[in-house]
Amino acid sequence: MEKILVVDFGSQYTQLIARRLRELKVYSEVCPWDELPALDEVQGFILSGGPETSNIEGNPTINESILNLNKPILGICYGMQVLAFQEGGSVENEGKKEFGYAQVSLQNKSSLFSNLDKNLDVWMSHGDKVTSLPDGYETVAVSDNSPIAAFENSEKKYFGLQFHPEVTHTKKGLEIIDNFIKECDVERRWTEEDILKTIADEVDTKVQDGKVLLALSGGVDSTVLASVLYKSLGERLICVMVDHGLLRKNEAQNVVQNLAEKIGLEVNLVNAQDRFLSTLKGIKDPEEKRKIIGKTFIEVFEEQAKNYEDIVWLAQGTIYPDVIESAGNSKSKAKVIKSHHNVGGLPERMNLKLLEPFRMLFKDEVRKIGKAIDLPNEIIGRHPFPGPGLGIRIIGEITEERCEKLREADHIFLTELKKHDLYDQASQAYAFYLPIKSVGVVGDNRIYADVIGLRSVETTDFMTANVSNLPNEFIQHVSTRIVNEVGGISRVVYDVTSKPPATIEWE
Ligand code: XMP
Repeated sequence: MEKILVVDFGSQYTQLIARRLRELKVYSEVCPWDELPALDEVQGFILSGGPETSNIEGNPTINESILNLNKPILGICYGMQVLAFQEGGSVENEGKKEFGYAQVSLQNKSSLFSNLDKNLDVWMSHGDKVTSLPDGYETVAVSDNSPIAAFENSEKKYFGLQFHPEVTHTKKGLEIIDNFIKECDVERRWTEEDILKTIADEVDTKVQDGKVLLALSGGVDSTVLASVLYKSLGERLICVMVDHGLLRKNEAQNVVQNLAEKIGLEVNLVNAQDRFLSTLKGIKDPEEKRKIIGKTFIEVFEEQAKNYEDIVWLAQGTIYPDVIESAGNSKSKAKVIKSHHNVGGLPERMNLKLLEPFRMLFKDEVRKIGKAIDLPNEIIGRHPFPGPGLGIRIIGEITEERCEKLREADHIFLTELKKHDLYDQASQAYAFYLPIKSVGVVGDNRIYADVIGLRSVETTDFMTANVSNLPNEFIQHVSTRIVNEVGGISRVVYDVTSKPPATIEWE
């Protein structure tokens, strides 16, 4: 399929560029600057921002094969600077950083800005800037701090922007990206029907008349995947869901019932609650908990799979951000903050082939697919839930009693969010358990009991997140319900820390 390739120089916004292109129905892939894929169907390039300085020896550069292809190029921030530098211009660091909102003013006509006003509100985040242009280039826009805030070489169709059109803070950013797409002469075929057809073709070609095993977590990705695969495979799809005792209230039953009622798919539910809780007894360290949960999950799943010996394929709901993150180049690879639990070790151990039909999709695309195949909003609009579940939302030791209390508190919080139409505004909301004692009065009695915390965040990519601005009365109402109804809880607190510096989960 024709595409625009996003070349990653290590910007935190790189994935966002690919998502914007896909919103505009153009297929796009992300690749590290030093590991290019085959370029035959690439109709244009967007060079991302990045943390480096473009005129220092040894820093990331644009591969010559891109420049030799005679396709349109849009350089953003570092991408703009490195384009200018390699084409013969100069870039300087004056020690001043420009970060946040800025206004750019158009000086010359450019197809990149067609149908836009002369003055635009944009988002800047840079230290270096282009100070002289290569031959054949002209300045298109200026800002107070950047005398060259946008440039173009109209003959080559090379463009540069000092600001970030991919972030929503740049008000006309999507229009600018749309104008670049028009320069690329690329087909706009990335629609739900096309995605579904591409997936069905892949499943047909690979699986043929084989059987597929799917580890269902109940989250959006694996549930939509189960539904999509069920359409192609019918009874040849076997779904297994392991209840590790760390799920939300009624979670396992709801998932099983929903899939049976909504699409007629039967899920094999494995009850392994006691096994997980006894293996986790006495463990307090978050990373150790994660590892135990991951390892026990694999053991349980492997045992179950022995019942289905004629299976060749293991399907996983891996999505594109996981693929990009694990393939990132050494310079842009983010530090591992937490070891995420997934079923990654399973295929080799069980001698199964891996089927990952969503590996090129972003989460919002998975949701769109879910919508296109008529899955109800209560499935596709669900907040993400981590593999280790409540295990990383109970600080310190996990006990059955703590799980029960947390399940109730979380249920109250989520039910109230839905009742007050606040659930869909939040990207992820949950309750967590703090095993610290505080004093309270209930009726005439003093209590000395543990604390429940509430967290709700808004984010598009889960890499950064803002705290939801929930009304005070609402939080107080939820708090009253939790203290009155859960029992053994003395107070409720609301977490007001954004990410960074905090992470979304507590552990
Ligand atoms: P953090 O806490 O890293 O979370 O800001 C970002 C997103 O990842 C989810 N998360 C996990 N998901 N296994 C998962 O499947 C994990 O171990 C895990 N830890 C965090 C988290 O819920 C949020 O959506």
